[in-house]
Amino acid sequence: MAEIKTPFYLIDKQRLVSNLEKIDHVRRHSGAKVLLALKCFSTWCVFDLMKHYMDGTTSSSLFEVRLGRTRFGGETHAYSVAYADHEIDEVVSHADKIIFNSLSQLHRFEKQASGLPRGLRLNPGVSSSTFDLADPARPFSRLGEWDPALIHPVIDRIDGFMIHNNCENEDFSLFDRMLGVIEDRFGPLLEKVNWVSLGGGIHFTGDDYPLDDFCTRLKTFSEKYGVQVYLEPGEAAVTNSTTLEVTVLDKITNQKEIVVVDSSVEAHMLDLLIYRASAEISPNTGPHSYMVCGKSCLAGDVFGEFRFPEPLQVGDRISIQDAAGYTMVKKNWFNGVQMPSIAVRELDGSIRLVRQFSYQDFEQSLS
Ligand SMILES: Cc1ncc(COP(=O)(O)O)c(C=O)c1O
Repeated sequence: MAEIKTPFYLIDKQRLVSNLEKIDHVRRHSGAKVLLALKCFSTWCVFDLMKHYMDGTTSSSLFEVRLGRTRFGGETHAYSVAYADHEIDEVVSHADKIIFNSLSQLHRFEKQASGLPRGLRLNPGVSSSTFDLADPARPFSRLGEWDPALIHPVIDRIDGFMIHNNCENEDFSLFDRMLGVIEDRFGPLLEKVNWVSLGGGIHFTGDDYPLDDFCTRLKTFSEKYGVQVYLEPGEAAVTNSTTLEVTVLDKITNQKEIVVVDSSVEAHMLDLLIYRASAEISPNTGPHSYMVCGKSCLAGDVFGEFRFPEPLQVGDRISIQDAAGYTMVKKNWFNGVQMPSIAVRELDGSIRLVRQFSYQDFEQSLS
């Protein structure tokens, strides 16, 4: 591994498999089909492994649905907050199902999508998110239709529903209660369709999640309404599978001990900034404390404060944990910071460099 130049994302297939085995367990015991949410993770070099444990992909755009169809295969769901006229035919050509975000998009593109099962996104008005930015049920939300009275008149033109209202939800009883709210609000509609996707945001691959209760709840729901249930995990599929490998470039003292690494939170783990969260390192113990910072010019480009067993030196390597979800899909060329390469630790332990980014990639990303 020392031969691969940092920064690089390192996807560990064995760690991925421990999530994927739980996903497969849920498929087998609940009857739900499970689709990878490409918005969270689109790093297709490991799709050949993932597709053995998942049924396909779901998407948020034309490009994602195309990637899902061509690189993952299986069942390919198309969803977008809004399609443009010039996109719809190509979207339809890649998809097995198409899910519209609003009744107006359904009406507008019904003809072009007539060869596919059509779904509608519902907004149940409840969410597990405590963060306004990520709360699909926030006031004035544009994400899905919320009024059953408007949906009833067109129900015979809809084949299924998609509901995404969980957000990193580790609490099964909260999931259960919110599904109850969905049943109370939309039950008569659910009875009339063939499938219901419950979206992503359910942290069912986490340690101690009551998987069997979860499977039973999904199965009961599916049988009660006579629907095929889908799940759309992003984060839960890839959690803890990947690290961002960085090297210390400089040490600075300003009331605290600070190190600057050859990466950037803003460019390579943007969600930490957006959600004001700290990165994680493991084991994060020892007598020496450092604030680990990125090399961009942003003053707040800080991964976090961590503990180390020995004093850090220029040239030391640090592994930032949990760097798969919403990282690689959001990486950018801010400050022209070297974009991390992508490497994979294979199941036999060997490490394969999959992709490096060059000056030409930086230059070509703009003109
Ligand atoms: C419609 C939909 N499905 C699935 C997901 C994946 O969610 P997560 O990565 O939290 O599992 C999202 C995330 O925003 C979403 O909007």
